[in-house]
Amino acid sequence: MAMLVAGGAGFIGSHFVDFMLQKEHDLKIVCFDCLTYAGSMDNLQDAKSYGDRFRFILGDIADRATVEKAFQEEKPEVVVNFAAESHVDRSIVSPKAFLETNILGTQTLMDACLRHGTKRFHQVSTDEVYGEAQIGESAIAFSEDAPLKPGNPYSASKAGADLLVMAYMRTFGLKATISRSSNVYGSRQYPEKLIPVLVQRAVNGMTLPLYGDGGQMRDWLHVSDACKAIAFIIERGSEGETYNMPGGNEIRNIDLAKKVCSVLGAEERIEFVEDRKGHDARYLIDGQKIKKLGWRVEKPFDDGFRETVMQYMRLFLKEA
Ligand SMILES: NC(=O)c1ccc[n+]([C@@H]2O[C@H](COP(=O)([O-])OP(=O)(O)OC[C@H]3O[C@@H](n4cnc5c(N)ncnc54)[C@H](O)[C@@H]3O)[C@@H](O)[C@H]2O)c1
Repeated sequence: MAMLVAGGAGFIGSHFVDFMLQKEHDLKIVCFDCLTYAGSMDNLQDAKSYGDRFRFILGDIADRATVEKAFQEEKPEVVVNFAAESHVDRSIVSPKAFLETNILGTQTLMDACLRHGTKRFHQVSTDEVYGEAQIGESAIAFSEDAPLKPGNPYSASKAGADLLVMAYMRTFGLKATISRSSNVYGSRQYPEKLIPVLVQRAVNGMTLPLYGDGGQMRDWLHVSDACKAIAFIIERGSEGETYNMPGGNEIRNIDLAKKVCSVLGAEERIEFVEDRKGHDARYLIDGQKIKKLGWRVEKPFDDGFRETVMQYMRLFLKEA
């Protein structure tokens, strides 16, 4: 059987490719990626060692001809869509690419799934589609049927894609599932995202910039648990359903920055910078639905966090 992993050269996608190649011995993985700045063949070194069980196709998910050729050649039974423009700050400066990849690209993939009778399309989405959660103990975590209230162009493009997936299921009978995850952390993230930025700057003796007062809260899920959850949903989740994937590790950005310094033994040189436009103070999702399927977070946050910070430290010291 072949599984097409769109965006498999990026952060989470490449870990998922490795995870699936190790887990399923009869599975062929076809990584379909156009290698934006966030994708890299370096992330696929392990995958390449699997010989015929792994193929890389350079292509844009919004390009119908390349997508069609890949489907004709590989006839994937399962398609998992990680491909996206994923950085909120870039979406504020220049939203167009986010709409093209995240919405039109998703549509192009789904059209190919319908033409080829793909057994499962899985859309990788985000907790950001629900918008900002309340601060405070009494805040209610968003369940899967909460309204979508995205607060920035990135999350709006992801919400648009989610709605389109739902419409394709109802209108055309697309066989699909959606997952909405908390912030994912681990190695291979492009150093514009919070944890690698903080490590890179701390290693270079620079200040650690935080938006506003650094009080925004984020919930963190290790990439190994994220990959297991997505595989879990594809195997055991019900067709047509959406599943939240919370990490259960909420922390304020300022405390995360201090934690980076503590792991590195670096001075806490925190610098508060002008807040991001429309910055969501908190994301909070309820994980009862996926827990009922039997999925649990396995990696303790302190272990995963320390491991990740050390991995980036070694990488940035090597590059220096
Ligand atoms: N990183 C997180 O914390 C997080 C949390 C929740 C959800 N997500 C979602 O998970 C998915 C993966 O996120 P990530 O952090 O690994 O992203 P990433 O930016 O690291 O990787 C994205 C990958 O998609 C590829 N890509 C981009 N545009 C493409 C196109 N038009 N055609 C083909 N390939 C294209 C890039 O080359 C890259 O390899 C995204 O859909 C994102 O919205 C991420």
